[in-house]
Amino acid sequence: MNRISPSVLSADYGHLAEALELLTASGADMVHIDVMDGHFVPNITIGAPVVRCLRKSTALPFDVHLMIDEPLRYVADFAQAGADRITFHTEAESGVGETIDAILAAGKEAGLAVKPGTDITEVYPYLDRLSMVLVMTVEPGFGGQSFRADMLPKIRALREECVRRGFPELDIQVDGGISAQTIGEAAAAGANVFVSGSALFSSKDMAAEIRRFKTLATAAQM
Ligand code: DX5
Ligand code: ZN
Repeated sequence: MNRISPSVLSADYGHLAEALELLTASGADMVHIDVMDGHFVPNITIGAPVVRCLRKSTALPFDVHLMIDEPLRYVADFAQAGADRITFHTEAESGVGETIDAILAAGKEAGLAVKPGTDITEVYPYLDRLSMVLVMTVEPGFGGQSFRADMLPKIRALREECVRRGFPELDIQVDGGISAQTIGEAAAAGANVFVSGSALFSSKDMAAEIRRFKTLATAAQM
């Protein structure tokens, strides 16, 4: 099932509650929250205390993308703050298996992300415990970058591997440069959860743009 996860990285951080109300009213499927520590990526955003405050503003699932060096250290904080799905990077310092275990033990869904330079086979040993794999289509750290079409073969290979292993429905998320111009190629390659920051938040009609994204994704998969 195709789902749209707008990234509030492109919202006005002074008015995040309003942004969540807009997303709720516009038919977003979840809310993508980018957590950056200034070490794993050269940018700093928000932590669990802010996520906890945002939890009051929407019932939409929180799709928390940890771009931090030590995800294992913060899993409990984000789980308690109201994250529903916690995604961390294979390139981080925490052990991958151990971090997945901690997320599942906290009663949350686990996602595993790869940067553009990382081989997709890195996630294969963990597929049976994951709800989602995030294939980054830009270098993580900033919104507004261009979609990297050279990541499409990774998405295709991952979808094929999921089918081979008996998890044909595993969520494959793409994050970075997703717009009406690029969502179709990502969907055709096998992605079904689409993060979008700048394209959605710069649109005049969020609800119409979310509907358009879904229509384009579904059409590309036929
Ligand atoms: C980038 C973040 C993305 C970002 C995407 O490191 O992980 O979630 O918000 O922004 P756009 O859609 O503008 O590329
Ligand atoms: Zn993200």
